[in-house]
Amino acid sequence: MDIRKLSDALGAEVRGIDLNEPQEAATVEAIRRAFAENLVLVVRDQRDLQPEAQVRFCEFFGPLGKRSRPADTRHEKSDEPAEVMFVSNRRENGRYVYTLPEGEMMFHIDQCYVETPARATSLYAITVPEEGGDTLFGNLCAAYDALPVDLRALVDSHRALNVFTYDSTQRDQVGNPSKRREHVQPMVVRHPVTSRKALYVNRLMTWSIEGLDAPTNEQALARLFDHEERPEFVYRHKWRKDDLVIWDNQCTIHARTDFDPGKDRHLRRFTVAGGPLRT
Ligand code: SIN
Repeated sequence: MDIRKLSDALGAEVRGIDLNEPQEAATVEAIRRAFAENLVLVVRDQRDLQPEAQVRFCEFFGPLGKRSRPADTRHEKSDEPAEVMFVSNRRENGRYVYTLPEGEMMFHIDQCYVETPARATSLYAITVPEEGGDTLFGNLCAAYDALPVDLRALVDSHRALNVFTYDSTQRDQVGNPSKRREHVQPMVVRHPVTSRKALYVNRLMTWSIEGLDAPTNEQALARLFDHEERPEFVYRHKWRKDDLVIWDNQCTIHARTDFDPGKDRHLRRFTVAGGPLRT
């Protein structure tokens, strides 16, 4: 096995491994270290990766996470593990039946609107379009380290409300009160292994900073979002069929570029459960 960095910002590719096979303890340990250091791991060419093998990979990093939403997102087959979800634009009877079927998606952190968001999220590419639908990952530890002094003082001493309405991909869709979920979170969290601090805000879901008036809030959030999305903190993943990607969902943000809704995009998703965020 060989681990190579994918960008200066974050991300590493794990090569020379077949995850359909069980791995030795030393290999698992090396993968865990690479994940703590790089925050995103990409494993290409995992042909016919079985759901159980994707689960086993996720469990290198902790217990499997539960589904984050009600059972309105169907399982592909009834014999698949109950925790599975699909990010997919496949339809049945003309209607989308899975999660996040289409469109560009703003930077966000999965489940930051609940008390204990997933520790990590994995996606396995079953079918992806040739063009578009890339996933961008931003390094929130690097973003925290590079904060201007005034913003660092602000985030170190405040908490923020995170809000989400299922299947929203843009901030102006999140306000809809039906099926809306929300939770107040710290604005800075610590990586559970390295203890590095990470800026915990995102453009799609972070709504307001406690104790600030509306204009100050809007201005501060706009500065924070622009800062953490700067290209030097971001790795862009162009999907290929059979890619398995896992990202640290506490110390990174991710976004999706637009793609042709007529092209099949079908990815299988499992998460790693998270405990309370460490501050
Ligand atoms: C997600 O935000 O979890 C989905 C990312 C993607 O579709 O690339």
